[in-house]
Amino acid sequence: MKKVRDEVFSLDGELAEYRKKNNYFAVLGEGSHDANIMFIGEAPGRNEAKTGRPFCGAAGRILDDLLLSINVPREDVYITNIVKDRPPENRDPLPSEIELYAPFLDRQIDIIKPKILATLGRFSMEYIMRKFELVFELESISAAHGKMYDAFASYGAIKIIPLYHPAAAIYNQSLKETLKKDFQELKTP
Ligand code: URA
Repeated sequence: MKKVRDEVFSLDGELAEYRKKNNYFAVLGEGSHDANIMFIGEAPGRNEAKTGRPFCGAAGRILDDLLLSINVPREDVYITNIVKDRPPENRDPLPSEIELYAPFLDRQIDIIKPKILATLGRFSMEYIMRKFELVFELESISAAHGKMYDAFASYGAIKIIPLYHPAAAIYNQSLKETLKKDFQELKTP
């Protein structure tokens, strides 16, 4: 994982320049390297870029609540993002940025070998569904959230579950309830 980290820190490109200019960190991911579940978000926000830790701001507090609701300690899962550097003003990542950073996510998946990939938001859902040849199943996140898909990784059978992004639930209690319900699926894969 250290090699992956060093390579991300030595990237060039708009997001890397933005990171250097602001003394931000690239955010690789955090959690157990033996995790059964890997959560994949979109990209670091300001808090994350300042600390180097994924999901440590408002969206992270929602994620922590959701993990608590299924009695899964945060240290037991692995949490990462598809894009490892913060996009300016939290804009959506560009397709070229996803293309640049996704190979690092691919390597993290192969190192950690999670049994379940839980995508948070539409960018990681689309990337992961395409990567695992589920493009024919791709639908909007409002239709796909909470469904479990079977797929094959280089190391064996896995499940993929698209989830809403926790940030969408910050001001939307009904979406938080939906997320809570969908998280129940993570208990019984
Ligand atoms: N949103 C994300 O997608 N990832 C983070 O790490 C924080 C907020």
